[in-house]
Amino acid sequence: MEVIICETPEEVGRLAAAKVSRVVRDRGPEAVLGLSTGSSPLAAYADLARRIEAGELDLSRARGFALDEYVGLPPGHPESYAEVIRATVTDPLRMDPLRVSCPDGFATDTDAAARHYEEAIKAAGGIDIQILGVGENGHIGFNEPSSSLSSRTRVKTLTRTTREANSRFFETLDDVPRHCLTQGLGTIMDAREVVLMAQGSHKASAIAGLIEGPLSARCPGSVLQLHPAATVIIDRAAAAEL
Ligand code: GLP
Repeated sequence: MEVIICETPEEVGRLAAAKVSRVVRDRGPEAVLGLSTGSSPLAAYADLARRIEAGELDLSRARGFALDEYVGLPPGHPESYAEVIRATVTDPLRMDPLRVSCPDGFATDTDAAARHYEEAIKAAGGIDIQILGVGENGHIGFNEPSSSLSSRTRVKTLTRTTREANSRFFETLDDVPRHCLTQGLGTIMDAREVVLMAQGSHKASAIAGLIEGPLSARCPGSVLQLHPAATVIIDRAAAAEL
């Protein structure tokens, strides 16, 4: 695992965007990107948008797979991750919406939707680079502590701490869905490359567990210690407990 400590949150985004651009250059215009919601990757998406604007990068033929989705939010719900990915990634990065997928959290059979998602990733040739943030409890995607380290895309129950952390996007805590569909830790580990970003002191303990802690389902992100091409890009505040 490569760890890069940056002076500013913007630098975190710039370095992560440079990695994604390099992967697209190496793999070709049809590269497959694993996309994450959350505030952590926003600076990277902004830098990718700047590169596209400058004509240095073209993602119009790239394929995208979102990491996770809430269960039960109807299509078009502004807090569904499908909408968040559209607003923060697909539109600004001028990706083709038909080439960007999200797990179907509104499916009547969510288990079948999870299996279908795994098959779609496989059919696309696998993910070339997975963009990740990390939750304060060490979760990646929505793989909460105790997730199997070899898990695949499936339905998970959100912990109260995650629902509380995400309640800022909803009117009340009760409005935050209780379940989600998430790529599993095994799915994430299959990506050819992983770039994880974290900024701020509230991520310091999760980052310490992820990088230096024992490999354990208690800190799901620690599984990345086994990934052959994982890069963790963080600012000084997030590095404080290393
Ligand atoms: C959410 C998402 C994760 C994200 C994490 C951190 O629960 N499911 O994919 O990485 O929380 O979010 P943020 O980047 O806003 O801190």
